[in-house]
Amino acid sequence: MRALQITEYGDNSVLHIADVPDLTPTGSQVLVAVEAAALNPLDSFLRAGYAQALMPLQFPATLGGDVAGVVSAVGPDVTEVAVGDRVYGNAYALLGGSGAIAEQAIVPAANFARIPGDLSFAHAASMPVAGTTAVEAIDHGLTVQPGQKVFISGGSGAVGSAAVQLAKHHGAHVATTASGDGVDLVRELGADEVFDYTTNDFSEHLREVDAVLDTVGGATLDKSYDILKDGGTLVTVIGELDQAKAAAKGLTVIRQAAQSDGVLARLTGYLAGGAITPRVGRTFSLEDAAAAFTALETRSVRGKIVILL
Ligand SMILES: NC(=O)c1ccc[n+]([C@@H]2O[C@H](COP(=O)([O-])OP(=O)(O)OC[C@H]3O[C@@H](n4cnc5c(N)ncnc54)[C@H](OP(=O)(O)O)[C@@H]3O)[C@@H](O)[C@H]2O)c1
Repeated sequence: MRALQITEYGDNSVLHIADVPDLTPTGSQVLVAVEAAALNPLDSFLRAGYAQALMPLQFPATLGGDVAGVVSAVGPDVTEVAVGDRVYGNAYALLGGSGAIAEQAIVPAANFARIPGDLSFAHAASMPVAGTTAVEAIDHGLTVQPGQKVFISGGSGAVGSAAVQLAKHHGAHVATTASGDGVDLVRELGADEVFDYTTNDFSEHLREVDAVLDTVGGATLDKSYDILKDGGTLVTVIGELDQAKAAAKGLTVIRQAAQSDGVLARLTGYLAGGAITPRVGRTFSLEDAAAAFTALETRSVRGKIVILL
């Protein structure tokens, strides 16, 4: 079978399509005939080697995590899914998978769920990482409640757009940031207040916010402490926390890295009920995977970038 692999860290020139032996699931592993795999910012970090101290790859490494396809075989301990099921989930090697951007992927059954309804493989593949990150933050980290005022930085991004939709679904008042056509997008998603970060500083306008989800980091995160009410809650999925600033206002602050059990199932429920709608920006073939990575890195596509297998 064919897989997008690297044998060294580097730019997109290290990407190549390799012919590798077919995979066989054991124990609680599931073998998936991959139909679609989506890219995340992490994928270019992993390829470049920026994350190698924390998440070293074993070469040759098949890239990608977000995946959707059809179960073609299961290990003897698998009870959650069966051959023929349409499934989606996370095939990152660092979570026990074999990598997503390949004709076959092995995934621990715990990292998979059935695709809800008639959602396409491309739309399903676009959701696991970004969607579960948003659900973890909004439901577990921030426990957003009806009527609360919530600020989500980067509402036009993959994590942010799922989070904006979910916070609105919970009845919150949502303020967010975006630029370009992202401004119209977040309005369509239901955001109540939108700040174009290229021309307007949210921190000059927002006060007494109950909860912040930061998906941008840096100066955006630094300014987010000031807009929170005393005792408020902040989750960042990318930045470094300032414990002194947090303590001064009695804030609960969380650097979200891992996810709670059951988050993928929860996401599946939100997708099934229409609370969260996936957004695919553009699809690429496996042969054009390097162009897909370039589109990710130049941020030239609005919506998720999906490779069809
Ligand atoms: N901790 C975790 O578990 C976890 C999981 C998933 C992702 N992440 C991280 O979370 C971040 C967001 O991921 P994603 O997939 O949502 O990325 P994405 O789709 O590329 O979205 C990036 C967002 O950031 C905004 N943005 C870009 N440059 C900005 C700037 N200079 N100032 C303010 N806003 C800016 C973009 O706005 P416009 O496009 O409208 O300009 C967009 O809303 C990434 O760093 C990713 O690595 C962490």
